[in-house]
Amino acid sequence: MNLLAIETSCDETSAAVVTEGRVRANVVSSQIKLHADYGGVVPELATREHLRNLMPVTQAALQVAGMTIERLDAIAATQGPGLPSALMVGFKVAQAVAFSAGKIFLGVHHHEAHLYSPWIGGEPPSADFAVFKPCVALIVSGGHTMLVHVKAELEHRLLGSTVDDAAGECFDKIAKLIGLPYPGGPELDRLAREGNPRAFHFPRPMINENNDNFSFSGLKTSVRYFLRDHPALLNDRQGICDLCASAQAAIVDVLVTKTMRAARRLRVGCVTASGGVTCNHSLREQLASACRKEGCVLRLAAPGFCTDNAAMIGILAERKLEAGAAPTPFDAEVKPGWPLP
Ligand code: KG4
Ligand code: ZN
Repeated sequence: MNLLAIETSCDETSAAVVTEGRVRANVVSSQIKLHADYGGVVPELATREHLRNLMPVTQAALQVAGMTIERLDAIAATQGPGLPSALMVGFKVAQAVAFSAGKIFLGVHHHEAHLYSPWIGGEPPSADFAVFKPCVALIVSGGHTMLVHVKAELEHRLLGSTVDDAAGECFDKIAKLIGLPYPGGPELDRLAREGNPRAFHFPRPMINENNDNFSFSGLKTSVRYFLRDHPALLNDRQGICDLCASAQAAIVDVLVTKTMRAARRLRVGCVTASGGVTCNHSLREQLASACRKEGCVLRLAAPGFCTDNAAMIGILAERKLEAGAAPTPFDAEVKPGWPLP
């Protein structure tokens, strides 16, 4: 099957071409710089930028893959969840192209696609479903933090999610308190490499609670109070690095502890992680070390597939269509608040 996939749920415009589980092209245009001055994604600007970039990005993906619309079997797009007007750009364009070219159309759940991005690997990147194992999947990004039990391919159950801020949001808000540019997560990660994670102690919210939910807003608040009481720390580079390392340690500790506890309880023997925060070096190291100790298989999304991308939409769409999923009607609407099916 030749499939074109489109993703515009937040601030990345992406198009991919997938053939038989192989990612032939995955073009991503990020809007990070556009939103930096505002300290967060501005929906109106994101939508305009998707409108501007979607056609060039799609043309580039088709060109890289040596593919034409005529040779496609199906077109897929993210249907939700995400920013309503941003979703509409990719979803409605994909629907219109599929309708006019007489192709099958499939709307895809963004988080369901994240569940399968850790299984994309190798060169050229391909879905490695031959080694798929039932797993506990951590999805951790700027908008979401959730644990999912993936019982089999295309069969999953949401275990828990954040009750307030997402982990990426917590990274970004703490980085902002320190004065780092948006999005602060990657910069905080860089500074944390030079810091002592035990220099300061921050709370690990909900770490001992007997459920799979998360909460990160209290941690951000405790960093705010800490800085109010120790303002001079921001004048000292080592102090900033120690603060970054200590705050990062608290976030990573909660994510790893709760993920591993769920994996043990469900006896899955495999853990996966995807979403932008999966780029964090400490999270990758701590998950690797915990999985080694427990004899668990670990599949981390490759850095290029951690953040939002159309390849994961295409990989899932192809798998679903092969499994007999019904096409999405041409008059279907986007689902901005779509819960994980
Ligand atoms: O998945 P993503 O690109 O977008 C969505 O939120 O959907 O994730 C972006 C988030 C941002 O909050 C960003 O700061 C965070 O992922 N992030 C990181 C790192 N790289 C990206 N957080 C911590 N350490 C990193 N290395
Ligand atoms: Zn995402």
